Amino acid sequence: MRFVWRLKQVWAVLTCTLAIAACPATPTVPPEENLILKGEKLFFNETFAGNGRTCATCHRAEDNFALSPRFIETLPPDDPLFVAEFNPDLAENFENPRLIRELAVILENQDGFDDLANDFNMRGIPHTLALRTSVVSATGPQTGWSGDGSPGDGSIRSFAVGAVIQHFPKTLNRVADVDFRLPTDDELDALEAFQLSLGRQEDLSLPLPLKGTVAARGQEIFIDRSLGKCNACHFNAGANGDPSIFGPTAGNLNFDTGVEDLPDQPADLTGELVPPDDGLGSPGSGEFNTPPVVEAADTGPFFHNNSVETIEGAVAFYNGDAFNNSPAGQLVAGATGGGINLDATQIVAVAAFLRVINALENIRAGDELLDRAFPVFRIDREYQTSLIRRAGFEIEDSVEVLAGAGLHAAAVTLLRKAHSLAQESLEYTGQRRRQLVDDARVQLNSAKIRMVEL
Ligand code: HEC
Ligand code: HEC
Repeated sequence: MRFVWRLKQVWAVLTCTLAIAACPATPTVPPEENLILKGEKLFFNETFAGNGRTCATCHRAEDNFALSPRFIETLPPDDPLFVAEFNPDLAENFENPRLIRELAVILENQDGFDDLANDFNMRGIPHTLALRTSVVSATGPQTGWSGDGSPGDGSIRSFAVGAVIQHFPKTLNRVADVDFRLPTDDELDALEAFQLSLGRQEDLSLPLPLKGTVAARGQEIFIDRSLGKCNACHFNAGANGDPSIFGPTAGNLNFDTGVEDLPDQPADLTGELVPPDDGLGSPGSGEFNTPPVVEAADTGPFFHNNSVETIEGAVAFYNGDAFNNSPAGQLVAGATGGGINLDATQIVAVAAFLRVINALENIRAGDELLDRAFPVFRIDREYQTSLIRRAGFEIEDSVEVLAGAGLHAAAVTLLRKAHSLAQESLEYTGQRRRQLVDDARVQLNSAKIRMVEL
């Protein structure tokens, strides 16, 4: 009996094709962890009898559960992301292959499937991190770039239904049980549990005792109601409105910040058909949903249309006419006596702040994944490997966001060390693996204490 059980285990491991994919839960795993594991497996592997895509085709673990042009460049030509390039039934009005490859924007029919040739939006792929902190509002859940991306009750749970119909069909008839199958209730529960488990589970509490001079100044500007004014909408650098301004239950709000009015947007410059995106509702109000900014620095390009490549550029957006003339810009000006007007040093300082809080979040997430790789219950070794690999992606990002702006050089050295220890651990099993992972965690902690007072 035991031999057969063992054989089944080995078979299950073998069938976990991708190293990042979750392996089937073992009987010794606690039930709540089991639901998350089930959701993880679905998220990475389930095609819902469609065109071959999975949720992770677009929300990649290696790329912060989002997707950037840089990462797309590394994909093979037959990756299901590019299904419109090789499936004749999806050649027209399903995706714009050039815009996927150059700008990582995806075709979305937020206003329905009646006029496929003209009625669509081209949107960037948002990360699915920190969803627990960034969806709840007084008027119901806000998902997707315009807060109305989810069908039915608007919840994260229902979002998967809309995603399958939008992104998974074999033909544009989009008939259930012919072109795809819809997720079952159990699958929706599991997908939701997995997505809610990703990233931060709670908001920061600003100000943080930051050690970097420029980042600390950036934090002051971010919070200052007469200077950056960012904290009004991105309270504690999250996705919710400042309760002292918008009320205690406001939660995650929508604004028309004028991103659509930016001149020279990269997508428009290509000459491809990119209709204006009218945001929330149908017909749209022009409003978009406030994203959390802790997760921003390593998830560019920025805004719903991927129109700005760098985090410095995203901060500078708030100085321009597009924002200051927008309904949200006018609201800010009315409430505070003026628009947002930062100088170059101040833009760099705010961006440094966003880079540092992002790096700290990467360190936290990396450390947590390494911790989860050695739980009290028995864990599948392939699954353990996938957790350590994911920790590696987080640590790599912390290096990039800091080094990309010359911040915290000493911490960067320690983070590189942590990364190589975590990578080295993958070559071993058992006690040696554990020792290397523990050593990596020590380096992570040393890096952290160089950035923030504990
Ligand atoms: C072809 C690419 C693609 C695939 C495949 C895909 N998504 Fe997405 N996802 C997107 C885009 C683009 C958006 C933004 C949509 C919008 O603004 O309404 C998004 C948004 C989301 C959001 C909202 C995040 C937020 O911050 O509000 C969730 C949740 C989500 N997707 C889950 C899923 C799930 C679950 C699946 C698999 C069933 C999936 N996605 C498959 C491209 C994709
Ligand atoms: C009036 C509310 C409001 C204010 C004030 C505000 N933001 Fe935003 N922010 C938003 C909304 C809404 C979006 C999404 C816009 C879109 O995609 O069209 C956004 C998007 C962003 C993004 C892009 C995130 C991503 O994942 O693409 C960054 C970065 C950002 N804001 C930083 C800031 C900074 C820095 C400040 C202060 C200088 C600031 N914001 C002030 C509402 C606001």
